[in-house]
Amino acid sequence: MDGNKKDPQIEALIARMTIDEKVGQLTLYADELRTNNPNINPDVNRRKSAELLDDIRAGRVGALFNGIGVVGGRLAQQAAQESRLKIPMLFGADVIHGLRTVFPIPLAEAASFEPDLAEKTARVAAVEATAVGVHWTFAPMVDIARDQRWGRVCEGAGEDVFLGKLFAAARVRGFQGASLANDDSVLATPKHLAAYGAVAAGLDYNSVDISEQSLREIHFPPFEAAFAAGALSTMSAFNDINGVPSSANHWLSTEVLRGEWGFKGLVVSDYTADKELILHGFAENDQQATRLAFMAGVDMSMQSGLYAAHLAKLVHDGEVPLKTLDESVRRVLRVKKALGLFDNPYRSLDPSREASDVATPAHRKLAHEAARRSIVMLKNDNGVLPLQKSARIALIGPLADQANLHGPWTLFANESEAISLQDGLTRAAGNDAHIKVVKGAEIDAPIEGGIAAAVAAAQGADVVLLAIGESERMSGEAQSRTEIVVPEAQQALAEAVAKTGKPVVVLLRTGRALALKGAVRDASTILVTWFLGSETGSAVADVVFGDFNPSGRLPVSFPFESGQEPYYYNHKATGRPYHAGGLKEFTARYRETDNAALYSFGSGMGFAPFTYDETQLSGESLPWNGEVTVSSRITNTGKVAGEEVVQLYIRDRVASITRPVRELKGFRKIQLAPGASADVAFTLTRKDLEFVGADLKWIAEPGAFDVWIAPSASTGTPKSFRLLDRKE
Ligand code: GLC
Repeated sequence: MDGNKKDPQIEALIARMTIDEKVGQLTLYADELRTNNPNINPDVNRRKSAELLDDIRAGRVGALFNGIGVVGGRLAQQAAQESRLKIPMLFGADVIHGLRTVFPIPLAEAASFEPDLAEKTARVAAVEATAVGVHWTFAPMVDIARDQRWGRVCEGAGEDVFLGKLFAAARVRGFQGASLANDDSVLATPKHLAAYGAVAAGLDYNSVDISEQSLREIHFPPFEAAFAAGALSTMSAFNDINGVPSSANHWLSTEVLRGEWGFKGLVVSDYTADKELILHGFAENDQQATRLAFMAGVDMSMQSGLYAAHLAKLVHDGEVPLKTLDESVRRVLRVKKALGLFDNPYRSLDPSREASDVATPAHRKLAHEAARRSIVMLKNDNGVLPLQKSARIALIGPLADQANLHGPWTLFANESEAISLQDGLTRAAGNDAHIKVVKGAEIDAPIEGGIAAAVAAAQGADVVLLAIGESERMSGEAQSRTEIVVPEAQQALAEAVAKTGKPVVVLLRTGRALALKGAVRDASTILVTWFLGSETGSAVADVVFGDFNPSGRLPVSFPFESGQEPYYYNHKATGRPYHAGGLKEFTARYRETDNAALYSFGSGMGFAPFTYDETQLSGESLPWNGEVTVSSRITNTGKVAGEEVVQLYIRDRVASITRPVRELKGFRKIQLAPGASADVAFTLTRKDLEFVGADLKWIAEPGAFDVWIAPSASTGTPKSFRLLDRKE
């Protein structure tokens, strides 16, 4: 879509449109015509089906969201064809990590450190979404999240901007496919613009006070990467930034987004975020909220009905220039045209595709592969895993059954189609299965006699698999937690089971990093299994029985204590850095804990250990316009083939803006046979060393840099080089 050239078809249409018809194109409502999942948003301004059909025929609404189904979609599209100008409807939905085939939550997929995998799962999500009449997904969520108390950590790619950029772009490519006009492509919506992951205290919807330097260096790059990958819509966030709500932030949605980044797509508000300007105390009434949101650059209003109610009058009264209205309509029509909707309004409304392209075996196979590649094994003391399939297993905990498998953002899937831990393990063990299942406790409450039954089962087993963690409702939107721990009832269960002395394998289900305590922390083996989706049980079983060697790594730091949040690996040194084992007094530490991670970003292991030879540098200096190669020989010293995520970190020792103690600048996931070695090399240039300086521009400064090739953000031995001045 060339945003600069005027399209004659669109210009001719705009010339014929009334102001009311133009406003209609900027109005988005929840789709009451089709099956949808109403309980994921506040119940506000919901329109009855008959009202909606009248609105569509009258040209008063241009888009619907979160409805699926070809029949209902055709009904709505038919109504649009009965309108005066026959402008096709646009159908959006929250297809965050799959539609009917549910993939691991985005945070889990980030743990694979395989953006290509995320591109594949997004592609399948698009195939399934378009098979049921969806043109537009409100994904990927690209918010960098450094505070694990925030419930929406689960929807993104974690705490690191380098990883976040790669996954943002990969997911956009997957969703939008080779061409937006293809019947199986959906419009992507990198969201939420901007810095929603930086809400104070990890409290959802809270204020964001942040330097422009941090905005530009940490929170903007995943959006820029997503737009560079071709995303043609974005969603304004609920939060304010330095006192200006993101949904009425002209600097953000016009000067930066369109002026600096050249974004030509459409901006849609988050759910009633325009009306919420009043609650923010930023607008006095609906009319002012409408004007502030629209004039800031929010093209389309989601669910509030504010634009439908007030925008036309604001134009008539001269408070909103007609030219500005036309520009927003132009963007929406251009996106609809790019999707092929003008050529075929019934695009993605093919009953045969609805029957053939959803929840296919191939999709489930990919879900299985994505799930097992997202699992992170944090420890495996005494090689408890893998188990023999004939092992006597006590499967204990409230997360072994057919619930809480999908994660918090799956609106259109049937949980009954997913594979539970109990089913997956039993099927995998086959005729050799000796698995006794005891719930032991509820998610958030003890069960009368539950612990006693669990202890008895443990005593009769060779090994305990402890299925514990968060329920789906404990992560996601509006699910901030003050204590990011395993719920008390489950911790008590773990403590009791551990006292039996049997080896315990924790299968940790979670939408965020947790502060692991006591028997959970001290278990022999910990598998972080996130929310893995449709193939949860089969993927976990593959790792438990050794049919798959786990290769995931943490995309978020697991702290010692909740009170450390926001904790992230790429923090600043401070003037009094605390070093483990060093002087504690008068250093940046807590009385109760080291200010470090129990398991750092990038941590994880498999069944095969790897060694890293000393990091080699091609030279001690990096010329201003040159490059330096950093390499290390990696060896699989184990007895089975395995994968290793080889990570490249730098540290800028001295700069005009203080720099993090480590920054991820590259990674390579390699597969090695037992005993095999590989030389892994990365090339660094000055561009890799840039940061946002005091003048808010990306700059590099000559000087000393540390560099690591390491298995995590907290391990490895650095080497150093100097970036030379341009004159040297
Ligand atoms: C929600 C979320 C947003 C979602 C939208 C529509 O409040 O913030 O991510 O896409 O509303 O459901």
